[in-house]
Amino acid sequence: MRSLANRLALIFFLITLGAMAIVYVVVVPTLKQSLVTERTDRLAASAERFSGVIERAIDSNAPVAVLDAVVRQAADQANARVTLLGVNRGTFGPQPFVKSDSNAGTDIGDLEFPAAAQAIESRRPATATESAGDGRVVQAARPLLFRDPESGREVLGSVVVFSDQLGDVEANVALVRDRILIAALLALAAAVLAAFLVAQSLGRRVARLEHVARRVAGGDYSARFAVDGDDELGRLAAALDGMQRQLAELDTARRRFIATASHELRTPIFSLGGFLELLEDEDLDEEDRARFLDRLREQVDRLGKLATDLLDLSRLDSGAVQLRPEETNVGRLAGTVADEFVPALAAHGSELRVEVGERPVTVVCDPERLAQIMRILVDNALTHTEPGTTVTLAAGREAGRVTIAVQDGGAGIPRADLPRVFEPFYTSDGRRGSGLGLAIAHELAERMGGDLAVESRPGRTVFTLGLPA
Ligand SMILES: Nc1ncnc2c1ncn2[C@@H]1O[C@H](COP(=O)(O)OP(=O)(O)OP(=O)(O)O)[C@@H](O)[C@H]1O
Ligand SMILES: [Mg+2]
Repeated sequence: MRSLANRLALIFFLITLGAMAIVYVVVVPTLKQSLVTERTDRLAASAERFSGVIERAIDSNAPVAVLDAVVRQAADQANARVTLLGVNRGTFGPQPFVKSDSNAGTDIGDLEFPAAAQAIESRRPATATESAGDGRVVQAARPLLFRDPESGREVLGSVVVFSDQLGDVEANVALVRDRILIAALLALAAAVLAAFLVAQSLGRRVARLEHVARRVAGGDYSARFAVDGDDELGRLAAALDGMQRQLAELDTARRRFIATASHELRTPIFSLGGFLELLEDEDLDEEDRARFLDRLREQVDRLGKLATDLLDLSRLDSGAVQLRPEETNVGRLAGTVADEFVPALAAHGSELRVEVGERPVTVVCDPERLAQIMRILVDNALTHTEPGTTVTLAAGREAGRVTIAVQDGGAGIPRADLPRVFEPFYTSDGRRGSGLGLAIAHELAERMGGDLAVESRPGRTVFTLGLPA
């Protein structure tokens, strides 16, 4: 019962069985009932139509032979058996007796004529069914009344009963019942078969997905989910395929990241080893030693920054960075960051303009992290431009957001490289950087619920950080 095919087959089977049982229990008895009613109504109508002649024959005191002939004629016309019963008034109430019968040859001793009894009692037309030796019969009785000349009252003289066999009705009902049973068996077989086929095809498709999922889980990113239709399973396969592509991309990115990170770490370490070897030379003059020590410090600084950046990025990636949001005056923060760059600006011969407008711009965010993003952007505007470039750091409010833009007048980023500037280790101009700054800034911006966008053409490069106000 754990397989989908079996469960589906069982459900189909039960539903079909239930439907057929309802049809059987409801339809067969109602059909029988309505056939009997219809037959009774027809017989009652015949009795009403053809009993008049018999009544007139009785009224005119016709001889027995004539009465028999009239009864037989009525039977022929009504296509039913007609029995004329006289009524004796005895001590035990009215007793019917057969006066004339259209099937005079057959014995009617075992018939009790319940319809006649009802008609006698109620003095109204009545219908009933009764079991005879050769099956059930339906009867329609009409009381024949005449006016007693002495008392002037209506007196019940006789009852005419029209009877018909119900055998064919029962045969028809039995036929329908058999047909329903056969149809039910066929429907059950078809339902079970259909359920098996549907479940098997579904099962095969699910098994294919499962197989590929296991391969992907095992690290085989070349396995593909086959999209085999646009139904729910097809859409699931498409979604899994998308997920698998992303996993493959992530895996490639992870490998590339590790390879580049180790390469970036190895370069300064080798360089450090080289300088140490040179410094070990005892004949080295003071000037060269100072130069080498400077280089050594540079490499150590670079290594330190790289290690910090890598740690930052991995903590951002794993969600381990905790933000401490507070009401922050963006203009004042920009001023503080700008002050940190005074020595670098002097070395670069550049000017940094801070444009924050009249009204203070405030936003709720982590000021440490916002300052970190500003530093990364201003540092880039100095590192990746020619000396003497003017850089602006502007803060403002725009369409319900707070924007911080860092603009420079440098040569810019080639258009083709723009989509990649936020990738880790991406550098386009080969200037000493390791390409982690913008990756960190971008991740941070997203963590803060904002975004970082870039626009660049020769002479104007703007990085804009947007934060929800
Ligand atoms: N203002 C800019 N003008 C021109 N190119 C830029 C500018 N900012 C960034 N770039 C380009 O984008 C690349 C990526 O910048 P990113 O800050 O991520 O790395 P980096 O500055 O090279 O190294 P670091 O990790 O030290 O910041 C840079 O190498 C540079 O080619
Ligand atoms: Mg940088």
